[in-house]
Amino acid sequence: MTTDVTANPNKALWEKGDFTRIAESMRGSGEALVDTLGITEGLKVLDLGCGDGTTALPAARLGADVLGVDIASNLVEAGNARAQNAGLTNVTFQEGDASDLSELEDNSFDLVVTIFGAMFAPRPFDVAKEMVRVTRPGGRIVMGNWIANDPTLVAQILKISASYSPPPPEGFVSPMTWGIESEVIERFTAAGVPEKSISFERDTYSFNYPDTPSELVAEFRTYYGPTMNAFEAAAANGREVELQAELETLFNTQNASPSDDATSIAATFLRVTVSV
Ligand SMILES: C[S@@+](CC[C@H](N)C(=O)[O-])C[C@H]1O[C@@H](n2cnc3c(N)ncnc32)[C@H](O)[C@@H]1O
Repeated sequence: MTTDVTANPNKALWEKGDFTRIAESMRGSGEALVDTLGITEGLKVLDLGCGDGTTALPAARLGADVLGVDIASNLVEAGNARAQNAGLTNVTFQEGDASDLSELEDNSFDLVVTIFGAMFAPRPFDVAKEMVRVTRPGGRIVMGNWIANDPTLVAQILKISASYSPPPPEGFVSPMTWGIESEVIERFTAAGVPEKSISFERDTYSFNYPDTPSELVAEFRTYYGPTMNAFEAAAANGREVELQAELETLFNTQNASPSDDATSIAATFLRVTVSV
């Protein structure tokens, strides 16, 4: 599926930078999360909003038959290159939109996993409906969602970035609403899932980077779409220095690494499990 970048701000946002540069700091947590998913040989897995495969590759290494779908063509390309370099033939990446998976058949996956992926797609009710549709009865959906107003790293980066950016267009639903349990329940029950089949738990992802917190801020400023946009908007208002300082304070305050030259920051997320 190809989409005109100019007509799709969601796609443009994620193709803008190079999320691989950020994902490099998230590989350990991606592997650890996949280890908890009960992956077995031949399990059919859809990794939605998969990026360059932080969770898709470990799932394939455990023997699953994995399809990674992402809206950003550069990340699809990066995922396929990483799979090839790793010699994995049971994982492929293709372009697609979590709000409309019409290229995928009903009931075709045992497990749909989406770690900070589908939460960024527009039209959350359609996203829930599509994930339920492509999951076979008896299968599972596992989502990792950042949490609105959470004090840890990513929720704060997004909150700070938003405060320097122009207000979103009318009708825009914040991705962070996927971190609110009542909203998640509303979306999946509208897709036909009974409330008792939806469960929640708080979990943690760690960002590990072999340099200072300020250098990690620089990676976000240069390669992470939402932060890049915030810096562009801040520059237009002469507020770049202020934004830089706010992010550096955030990263430095949250850094738990015992070394001055390394960064290790934990971020809380909402893990949602849906039995279909
Ligand atoms: C924060 S990244 C996470 C990537 C990956 N899941 C990981 O853990 O590294 C968000 C991902 O969601 C993808 N994405 C955003 N909107 C999407 C949509 N509508 N459909 C599919 N993927 C989408 C982005 O392109 C990006 O790769």
